[in-house]
Amino acid sequence: MKQDKPLLDRLADHRDGGYLSLHMPGHKENEGLAPYLRTLGAGLDITELPGFDDLHAPAEVLAESMARAARLFGSGETLYQVNGSTGALLAAVRGATRRGDRVLVARHCHKAVYHAVELCGLDPVWLVPPTVEGFGIAGSIRPDQVEQALEDHPDITLVVYPSPTYDGVLSDTAAICAAAHARGVPVLVDEAHGAHLGLTGDFPLGAVAQGADLVAASLHKMLPSLTQTAVLHLSGDRVDRAEVRRQAGIFQSSSPSYLLMAAMDGCVRLLEEKKEALFAAWARRLGEFDQLARGLRNLRLPGHGDEAGAVYPNVFALDPARIVLSTRGAACTGVELMDRLRTDYKIELEMAMDTYAVAMTGLGTDDGMPRRLAEALHALDKAVGPASGPVSDPPALGLPPRRLGLEEAVRSRGEFLPAEKAVGRVARGYLWAYPPGIPLAVPGEELTADLAETVGRLQRAGVKLVGLGPGGTVDVVA
Ligand SMILES: Cc1ncc(COP(=O)(O)O)c(C=O)c1O
Repeated sequence: MKQDKPLLDRLADHRDGGYLSLHMPGHKENEGLAPYLRTLGAGLDITELPGFDDLHAPAEVLAESMARAARLFGSGETLYQVNGSTGALLAAVRGATRRGDRVLVARHCHKAVYHAVELCGLDPVWLVPPTVEGFGIAGSIRPDQVEQALEDHPDITLVVYPSPTYDGVLSDTAAICAAAHARGVPVLVDEAHGAHLGLTGDFPLGAVAQGADLVAASLHKMLPSLTQTAVLHLSGDRVDRAEVRRQAGIFQSSSPSYLLMAAMDGCVRLLEEKKEALFAAWARRLGEFDQLARGLRNLRLPGHGDEAGAVYPNVFALDPARIVLSTRGAACTGVELMDRLRTDYKIELEMAMDTYAVAMTGLGTDDGMPRRLAEALHALDKAVGPASGPVSDPPALGLPPRRLGLEEAVRSRGEFLPAEKAVGRVARGYLWAYPPGIPLAVPGEELTADLAETVGRLQRAGVKLVGLGPGGTVDVVA
């Protein structure tokens, strides 16, 4: 369909459309909370003029601002990133490894980590997270899994996993760090979704405080900063900080935007001044939502509503800022729930899969959220009714055999086959639902019947898959 309207007008229409934002970015368009965001326009968009420092050789105002950020987050050193956690993860992995290194990587990492493995020519040993039964989401990486893998592969040079996940699941980073550090192995935590953690007692501890050597955190996802802004925290001396700094320069524009950097500086200053009050208000709103969301009969909200404070097998902890809406017991898919919240209630969620959807609160979430979301959920809970029968957990996508190296596979000649015909063949391309951008098919690995089944199930549920060819075909090595 031809889209004649300029993007700016479309954005303005959306802004004025009365939507409740439960998606990124974390400022939730709340310029009252973060006035510095309102002023960022062309007049402030400059280059590295005298007096404005240089992100690639910081010595003045940017160095000072990043030092403030390091104090705020409690890290040894913090680097501002204008290419999101994506750039931070690429830089961290590249800086902490050498080509050919063996690395321990959680299977539910974001595509940025897979790309880092591909670009750096690493040899991944995968850590498969357990499933949270009844919800079909990935659980926490267990410290004993990490310990066992390090025991089995004493040449591993880096451990990487996401915490919290897109679904708000945290792993026990303190114990994982203890296991890795006992062998001198550094830990990189993808904390893209957790920049708010541990800043006050209102939310669980973050990875820096638990001893992680490298932490990538998107400011834009949970805090009042502009999209693309992130921080890379470096602590301790297990990794060569100078090399990570150099890599951060490689994976970012040589003309970093002063608007993005001013947003990060503004965010850090706002938190320095007001974090206690702002985080307490956010936690209070979440508590109010939990009260109002009680009594749902078909939708389930792990960790919220009637399940506030609940504990689940395979989950170390949940981030209360994230609200997962499970549709397992309801007569609708996650995608349908997300669509109905948008069209009937003007509530825009972050993402949806076949049996759940995810609402992201952020520091910009205001007092109107609890009632508006809870009322919509109560109404939809009644309207959709119960599922016609029990829905079982989908098959966990174990670890398929690796037939080719990642890069070798990606650069091979390929062909596109229907998913069922691709079983037994070798994947050439990645395949992921976006969001969350966690690869389902990984280049060089054999495509399994479980994967074909998963692709079919997600497509039937209306989940958008990235990486499929014409007519929903799968990209295989020819
Ligand atoms: C777990 C995870 N890691 C990393 C990223 C990349 O973050 P960014 O969008 O800031 O580049 C994302 C993005 O959604 C993510 O979900």
